[in-house]
Amino acid sequence: MKFFAPILLCAIPSLAAPSASEDVRGSCPDLPTKKNLTTSITTLPDPFLFSNGKRVSSQHQWNCRQKEISQLIQDYELGAKPARPTDFSVAWDNVSKVLVVAPAVDGKKISFNVTIKYPSTTTGAGPFPAIIAIGGASIPLPASVASITFVNDEIASQYGIQSRGKGLFYDLYGSDASAGAMIAWAWATSRIIDALEMTPDAQIDTSKIAVTGCSRNGKGALVVGAFDKRIALTIPQESGTGGAGCWRLADDTYSQGINIQTAHELVGENSWCSKDFDAYATSINLLPFDHHMLAGLVAPRGLLVIENNINWLGPQSTYGCMKTANKIWQALGAQDNMGFTEIGVHSHCRFPAEQQSILSAYISQFLFDTPSNTSVMATTVASSFNETKSKRRGVHNPEFYNVGMGKLTSSFAVHCFRTNTVLDTENSTSVRATLQLKDIDTQGQGRLVENLGNDLRTLVGADALEERSTQERTGKRRWGLT
Ligand SMILES: *[C@@H]1O[C@H](CO)[C@@H](O)[C@H](O)[C@H]1NC(C)=O
Ligand SMILES: *[C@@H]1O[C@H](CO)[C@@H](O)[C@H](O)[C@H]1NC(C)=O
Ligand SMILES: *[C@@H]1O[C@H](CO)[C@@H](O)[C@H](O)[C@H]1NC(C)=O
Ligand SMILES: *[C@@H]1O[C@H](CO)[C@@H](O)[C@H](O)[C@H]1NC(C)=O
Ligand SMILES: *[C@@H]1O[C@H](CO)[C@@H](O)[C@H](O)[C@H]1NC(C)=O
Ligand SMILES: *[C@@H]1O[C@H](CO)[C@@H](O)[C@H](O)[C@H]1NC(C)=O
Repeated sequence: MKFFAPILLCAIPSLAAPSASEDVRGSCPDLPTKKNLTTSITTLPDPFLFSNGKRVSSQHQWNCRQKEISQLIQDYELGAKPARPTDFSVAWDNVSKVLVVAPAVDGKKISFNVTIKYPSTTTGAGPFPAIIAIGGASIPLPASVASITFVNDEIASQYGIQSRGKGLFYDLYGSDASAGAMIAWAWATSRIIDALEMTPDAQIDTSKIAVTGCSRNGKGALVVGAFDKRIALTIPQESGTGGAGCWRLADDTYSQGINIQTAHELVGENSWCSKDFDAYATSINLLPFDHHMLAGLVAPRGLLVIENNINWLGPQSTYGCMKTANKIWQALGAQDNMGFTEIGVHSHCRFPAEQQSILSAYISQFLFDTPSNTSVMATTVASSFNETKSKRRGVHNPEFYNVGMGKLTSSFAVHCFRTNTVLDTENSTSVRATLQLKDIDTQGQGRLVENLGNDLRTLVGADALEERSTQERTGKRRWGLT
């Protein structure tokens, strides 16, 4: 929702005094320290329960909880994603459309190339939305979108457990880095987005980026989308266990004699996860998270999960896990920003034409701001996933659905209006405020943006606001509530 008004006028509806149980706005509980996990949780863990036992009761607290979940998943499953190196250079070859991304750490420097393919049917000038395809795309790429193939294997190899620690990422951070291949890809994708932001001549709209990938690279696509809030749309395809499936649900399916990939198999097959995950692969119930919460790191951004009914991928597990994950979007009042589609009976990574309309709807909604019907929760196995039954089996606990539902939507509706500015609050369902300046000279621009940033800071608490990204060309800046 966009507001345009001549004077500054701010209001936060329903901003009651924080209740005793609510953390002070702008602060988050301390992040838990890494330890040997010993508490068994047989159901899918509650995404709205902090490690300190407190409950998420506002959108700000959900942002805090996302930080905690991010840390937990890095500590026990994926390994650490390093911050952006300060020593970081980018070159742009505008003839072959190659971006040379060159980060350096402690005197060690790596460099990798990504090639941008521009829309074939160009209607007007850029900047263009872009889809980053992890290891190549298996979905039909729309002609109106730029595409970037990310050769993830050169960043972190995935040809078996013997490939652990091999690839450019490990040349930079050491072969004993805790990061498994997937978080290394997430790190590199974030560097690609940095490079695009630093290269306005490349004409990519970094607020309109999607990621996709299939199978092992689908697992990767979900991880990539989960760990960078600049990604507008995440489309993991047939990612199965280790992606859209939940570890606990996969173990449960396996216990029924079905040939599904489990954590135990996965850690012996490849180096996708951190070495630190090995210790938990046979005792998944010790993890304080599961993959409904990995998906929850994407919320309330766009997520379209495409699956298949191949046993190895675990159609019950992916459907159950993502149906549960959708409760997080529901709590944020954005349930249609996340969907699941599995229509079955096709070969692995082949995209059926029947799913084209839902894919197009997500691309229109999240890459072109064109309102579309993105509501989908389609599966061929609905009858085999019964929430009540799963609860009785001790695997899946739907109780937490009721806790945060609809309650996280209203506390951060910030409405600000200022001369010559358009503040897109994306209404009260979103944690993001996008500020766009119009008709202001370059010098005045920065000052006004800064002032409005400060106004927002006053409203939501000094530490609650961080600038996420700036688009040099358009002067569009985005803040997030920390
Ligand atoms: C965790 O267990 C390992 C042995 O399994 C031990 O070496 C380590 O010190 C323990 N760490 C903590 C924090 O208890
Ligand atoms: C590439 O950049 C150079 C130098 O800025 C410019 O002269 C040239 O027109 C550009 N070429 C293309 C194809 O954009
Ligand atoms: C990367 O791109 C640059 C610029 O086009 C080119 O000079 C270089 O050879 C490329 N490197 C590789 C490994 O392809
Ligand atoms: C949106 O699409 C779904 C099918 O994916 C359909 O069931 C639903 O009725 C549609 N909703 C609207 C408002 O058109
Ligand atoms: C789920 O299982 C319970 C217990 O077996 C049963 O009563 C209920 O009808 C089932 N629900 C659905 C939607 O199949
Ligand atoms: C807020 O945004 C959501 C998602 O875009 C939309 O469905 C809803 O109608 C909007 N609410 C208002 C009050 O504009």
